[in-house]
Amino acid sequence: MRKSLFHKLTQLAASSNIEVWLGLLDLRNFKNLVNLKSFQIANQKSLCVILKILILLVFTPLSMSAQKLTYYDNIEPIIQKNCVSCHRKGQIAPFTLTSYEDVERRAGFIKKVTAQRYMPPNPADPSVSHFKNVKRLTQEEIATIGKWVEQGKVKGKEKKNRQGSVKEDTISWREPDLVLTFNEPYQIKGDNREHFKVFVVPTNATEDLYVSGIDFFPQNKQLAHHCRFMIDTTNLLRPDNGIEVGDKSEFQRLGVRMNDNFWHGWIPGNTAIFYPDNTAKRLPKGSDIVLNMHYSPSPKDVTEQSKILIYLSKQPAKRLVKTFILEENSVVNEPFMIPKDSVIKFYQRSPVIPYDISLISITPHMHLLGKNFKAYAITPEGDLINLIKIDSWDFSWQMTYQFDKLLKIPKGSVIYSEAEYDNTPKNGRNPYDPPRDVTYGWGTKDEMLNLIFQYLDYEIGDERK
Ligand code: HEC
Repeated sequence: MRKSLFHKLTQLAASSNIEVWLGLLDLRNFKNLVNLKSFQIANQKSLCVILKILILLVFTPLSMSAQKLTYYDNIEPIIQKNCVSCHRKGQIAPFTLTSYEDVERRAGFIKKVTAQRYMPPNPADPSVSHFKNVKRLTQEEIATIGKWVEQGKVKGKEKKNRQGSVKEDTISWREPDLVLTFNEPYQIKGDNREHFKVFVVPTNATEDLYVSGIDFFPQNKQLAHHCRFMIDTTNLLRPDNGIEVGDKSEFQRLGVRMNDNFWHGWIPGNTAIFYPDNTAKRLPKGSDIVLNMHYSPSPKDVTEQSKILIYLSKQPAKRLVKTFILEENSVVNEPFMIPKDSVIKFYQRSPVIPYDISLISITPHMHLLGKNFKAYAITPEGDLINLIKIDSWDFSWQMTYQFDKLLKIPKGSVIYSEAEYDNTPKNGRNPYDPPRDVTYGWGTKDEMLNLIFQYLDYEIGDERK
């Protein structure tokens, strides 16, 4: 039946009498859509378009009902692209999704969490801004998963040359130029408590390095919770290597000013960041990378010796990636204090942006009392540029969000943020029971309000990069 219909359609396409072939197909609805009288048969182009629409109309339902979706054809590609970065051996998710059996076993659950958009995790509102490193299923992919489950989770045939399951620890497509590791394995105590540790990793670079990409591989991915990288050019912090944050550190004692307060941010599931072509981040010669690492509680002792992977710019970079941070001192409704039993919003305002810039990424940072967050810029003309909106702040998903395309912020703009905190017992993550007044500090039970940007000085055409 499909064959003969197709035969008819191709014959009709060849004929130029549109009324004949519309009549043959008896598409009454279609006639309502197109004013046939005004339709000139001579227009071969429209004929083609209509033919395509007809083929779609006629064949889509046919092929959909005739053929069942299969795991290998329809589901595996979606899972590989959107899930296995976390759902594979040694990664943070509690189970793997790397085989048919893995996915089949949890199919109903997968259908549910994808339909609800609980997975893949994506805290930022996609109607406000788009990020290239945030995984997000299309409506069609969600429907495909649902349909496959309803049709009975057909396995299908494994193709010979299909892309296999992502291997454990796939490093990105490029070999790193520099791999820096902790000088020795460190013990993380198995006392069921969170740990915040400082590691100081000397680069021993004898000249300035131009970094075009950064990746991070903690040895223990289940425990490594997040990590902030800073750059110290004084080398005065080396005695802090391996200490717990909160111990009397050189950092606090000497009040050393970092060369870069936020060189990079990592959370599980965050893939490598690569800066746009011909741009790089400077790593001054002789500098140390200072890591502030947060580990989840563990019932048993583990050792930890993470790796920092650095990709260097092949040619001298024409443009430098820079960072600016809005901190607690940009809060306009000071003091930055969150009274117990209150829900309170703080507003940050940046200085006036002195020249055109192109934003690469945005990283909001709050701790456990964070409730929601949004940031936007207002141009001198009064136009609004949305940057990010997170309706339900999740301490566990502190991402560096990379804008889909470089985002131009014109000279004279001001960047604002609005951050709400919930210090009531209703906040399930409130570290204190009963709640206490909380103010600024580096510990997780303290609070912070940072908004970190990586940017370039604007150049014409950036919007397309
Ligand atoms: C960025 C990492 C990450 C990605 C990507 C990801 N997951 Fe998860 N997933 C997790 C973590 C961590 C958990 C356990 C914590 C939780 O439930 O939030 C989880 C839990 C789940 C659960 C159990 C939910 C529950 O309530 O217990 C399912 C089912 C799931 N993921 C399916 C998927 C599917 C399907 C995809 C891809 C479409 C996906 N995940 C992508 C990290 C990820």
